[in-house]
Amino acid sequence: MTRFVCVLGGVALAALLAVPAVAAENKDIIDYRINLMKTLGEQASAMGKIAQGKVDNADNLAIHAEIIAMTAVAAKKAFEPKVVGGTSTQAVWDNWKDFNDRFTALEVAAKDVAAASKAGGMDAAKPKVGALFTCKSCHDIYRTKN
Ligand code: HEC
Repeated sequence: MTRFVCVLGGVALAALLAVPAVAAENKDIIDYRINLMKTLGEQASAMGKIAQGKVDNADNLAIHAEIIAMTAVAAKKAFEPKVVGGTSTQAVWDNWKDFNDRFTALEVAAKDVAAASKAGGMDAAKPKVGALFTCKSCHDIYRTKN
């Protein structure tokens, strides 16, 4: 009896795992890339507060810049599966090279800010922070209005 229940349990578990897999997978893929984009949003906002002198945390500027650079790299992978949804448009996958190049540009700009901050502190980093905010130019092309 125990064994029977166990087999039944196994089948039920397999069914549970198998049936919603396709739908859940796409949702997870979309959620995952949104997780990364939210990270960019939070880090960019934290950086802005430091650069504008609203909080006195100059030592953290390079850390935020490095997180942005790493997240830009991770984002390329996150968008690899072609799953139109969230606020992403079909153009992401139609213009894949341009889309990727924009994340590379963000990575390069963020590393530049981090290096300047480490070498010369806030004074050296501040003029470079603006170059990081390429966000809107990408969103204008690759996101639906929402
Ligand atoms: C290479 C293009 C690209 C760049 C560069 C980019 N984004 Fe995005 N971003 C997207 C796309 C595409 C989406 C839509 C994701 C989805 O819903 O599938 C998005 C979504 C978002 C979202 C919405 C997440 C949500 O809650 O749905 C935020 C916030 C965001 N990006 C912040 C930023 C910030 C901040 C930067 C710059 C530091 C940035 N992004 C740079 C393409 C980009």
